[in-house]
Amino acid sequence: MSSDAKEAVAAITAAKNPRELEQLRVRYLGRNGSVTRELRRVGDLPPDKRAAAGAAANQIRKQVESALTQAEKKLQQQQYEGETASITLDVTAPVDTPDAFGHAHPVMSLIDDVVRIFWQMGFSVIDGPEIETEWYNFEALNIPADHPARDMQDTFYLEGGNLPRTHTSNLQVRYMEKHQPPIRIVTPGKVYRNEDEDQRHSWQFYQLEGLVVDKGITLADLKGTLLAMMKGLLGEDTQIKLLPNYFPYTEPSVELHATCVICGGKGCKMCSHTGWLELGGAGMVHPQVLRNGGIDPEVYSGFAFGFGPERIAAIKHGVPDVREFWRPNLNFLEQFE
Ligand code: FA5
Repeated sequence: MSSDAKEAVAAITAAKNPRELEQLRVRYLGRNGSVTRELRRVGDLPPDKRAAAGAAANQIRKQVESALTQAEKKLQQQQYEGETASITLDVTAPVDTPDAFGHAHPVMSLIDDVVRIFWQMGFSVIDGPEIETEWYNFEALNIPADHPARDMQDTFYLEGGNLPRTHTSNLQVRYMEKHQPPIRIVTPGKVYRNEDEDQRHSWQFYQLEGLVVDKGITLADLKGTLLAMMKGLLGEDTQIKLLPNYFPYTEPSVELHATCVICGGKGCKMCSHTGWLELGGAGMVHPQVLRNGGIDPEVYSGFAFGFGPERIAAIKHGVPDVREFWRPNLNFLEQFE
């Protein structure tokens, strides 16, 4: 090692802190550093001297760089040891508990409750796509483009013709295509409608759909299933009634009403003084829908239902406006802890 290199390596090795090390790096390898200047000078030498002088200068540069890297590592290690030496760990110290824990959102916990009730009755829980083709959302459910029922669900359309599903019924034919009866599923998920918002309507909300297909399924099975669900959800005293309705994909179609949880059926503002609340739609699966799903309606029959968890959560907790659930308002949500 040349005496220049020796001197530089000794100074670098003796550096006491990162600041001193940086000053030395600039002194030797900076733009005007002594090693840099030496390398630059090689170009001014006569051609026959350049190779040897260049090799010597490069050798010094490498030795200085290597000394800098080692010194940096040594200083980091010293710093780490200094910091950790002062840390003592008391494994018997009590654990700090956070002031506030998170909790389930009221709509999600209602969905969990419903799913648990159906799971106990032997249903499977299925997930479906939120972006859907017109076929599965409408046509496969007996709702062609010119059908007046399309107006029942104002639709957002995407470029290319697909759409954010307007209801969880999009899963009915999708599921039947891949599964032969017996079918017993529930499918919760988000749906989207291009409609004006008010206390009972938002443009994005959850639905929970159920589908049962087997031999000999009747409207009595539908009523018994919905009654079990409503009793599990709103209490043993809950009664339901099914009123005639119209959906192109069920025949007959019904509207599900349950006794008002606020007044117990006596009549109040929440139930418009009727004692009953409308919670969802249901019916016997239309034979054509079974056929679209590859199931023979001469052999099998089924029922389907769909309702809105936000509306049920609003009723259960006495919330007058379903939009409240999705506003970023922690004061409101913390009530449901
Ligand atoms: C349907 O969406 C049918 N697909 C339900 C169905 C399924 C019928 C299977 C037959 C067989 P409807 O548009 O009524 O039906 O919506 C069902 C429920 O979703 C309503 O009862 C309500 O609870 C909820 N809902 C509907 N629109 C909104 C909205 N804009 N905001 C919040 N909840 C809504």
